[in-house]
Parts: sequence; structure tokens; C-alpha cells
Amino acid sequence: MRYGLEGRPTGLALVDYYGEKPPLTVDYGSSSLRLRQKKISAKGELLVRAVNEKPGARVLDMTAGLGIDAFILASYGHEVTMLERSKTIYLLVADALKRAEQDPQLKPVAARLAIHHWDSTRPFLPAKGFDAALVDPMFEEKKKSALPPGNMQMLQAFLGRGAELHPFLAAAQALGIRRTIVKRPRLDRAPLDNARRPVYQLTGRSSRLDVFFNQV
Ligand SMILES: C[S@@+](CC[C@H](N)C(=O)[O-])C[C@H]1O[C@@H](n2cnc3c(N)ncnc32)[C@H](O)[C@@H]1O
Repeated sequence: MRYGLEGRPTGLALVDYYGEKPPLTVDYGSSSLRLRQKKISAKGELLVRAVNEKPGARVLDMTAGLGIDAFILASYGHEVTMLERSKTIYLLVADALKRAEQDPQLKPVAARLAIHHWDSTRPFLPAKGFDAALVDPMFEEKKKSALPPGNMQMLQAFLGRGAELHPFLAAAQALGIRRTIVKRPRLDRAPLDNARRPVYQLTGRSSRLDVFFNQV
């Protein structure tokens, strides 16, 4: 067995027993996230701009991963429901959320976050009344993605790559979600969905957000 989940004093960790990378943990109180949190604004934070709603909007994060994007949106004031297909990654994030609930500064943000172990391309029945959906799977391409390289490499090594956009767009549409935001590497030009084009794009330093409108 190459990977294992270990309970450590700092929280649950995904350990690569053959690799040299440090164990993967999720810490919403890390100094880098606290710094980013302080800088969040409606104009400055690309994700917030893409959601384009006042604080309090309901966002369905269809590919939770480590929950960083969801945490940023919840820090702005949005209510974010995360869906994660991998049981291991789900457990890491659920553990991080529990720890965040114990931290007086993070508690209000954690209260706006929820995670479910679920494949979001399958109908998620409780998902009603969302204002926007966020999709950031690991698309099949070679360029760097937007997460911090260490965590991203570990996540990719553990989960592998390969996702099609269409099933996510179709699932968001079936749930009646008008806006779907797809996160991709900044310079990635490969078409992901032959049938549909984004209505607009927001380009940041390392990533790009393609915004689709669904007919609902
Ligand atoms: C690149 S990561 C997302 C990173 C996330 N945006 C963040 O800020 O941490 C992609 C995640 O999507 C998950 N995923 C891929 N397809 C999925 C699906 N159909 N349903 C739910 N989760 C999925 C993967 O297991 C992986 O954890």
C-alpha cells in the first residue's frame, strides 16, 4: 500500500510511504490562507467576481479537493456546499473543517461550509436553490494547475488525472443552477466541451475561470 491516512497531532494526514513529499494535511488556519483571506474583495478575488453575487449566495463546489476555493468563497460570506468523490480527500477536508470549528476566528467561516462524499456528476438531490456551481476537476492536460504545487502534485499523484467537462455542466443544469464556473490553468486552450463555449472568462496569474450560463 503506497498511501495511508494517519491521525497526527496536527490533524488527519495523507502519507505517501514511497515518496519524499511531506504528508498532505488541510489547515484552514495556515498563514498563507489567513493572508489570502485578509485580501479578499469583490473586485480582487477572481472566484468572488465569477460568482458575481453579494455575500450570502449559495455555491455548489462540485469538485471540493482540499476545499481551498470553497474556503475563500465562504470567507467572503457565501454558503458553500462541497461534493467530493474521493473518500480519502473527503475525510481530510471533513477533519480540517472540524478543527476550524474549534478556532474562534475560523468558526464563522466553517459554519458556512459543508462537505458530502459524493460524485457530483450523479444527481445530488439535496442540491436545490444554488446560485452558482464551481468545477475544478483535474482535467487531462500537461500544464501546471492553480493549487500550490506541493499539495497539487500530491493530490494528482494520489488521484490521477482525467475528467470531462460535459458531465459537470449537464449535472449543474439538471440541478437548475444558472451559472457554472470552470477553473482551468491560465493558458490552457484545449477545448474541453465541443458543444458549448464559456460566456466569458476571467484570467488570473495562474488560473482562468470560464463562466457558463445554463438554460434553467
Ligand atoms: C483539482 S482538485 C479541486 C481543488 C479545489 N478547487 C481546491 O480549491 O482545493 C479536484 C478534486 O475534484 C474531485 N473530483 C473529480 N471528479 C469529481 C466528481 N465527479 N465528483 C466529485 N468530486 C470530483 C477530485 O477527487 C479532486 O479531489
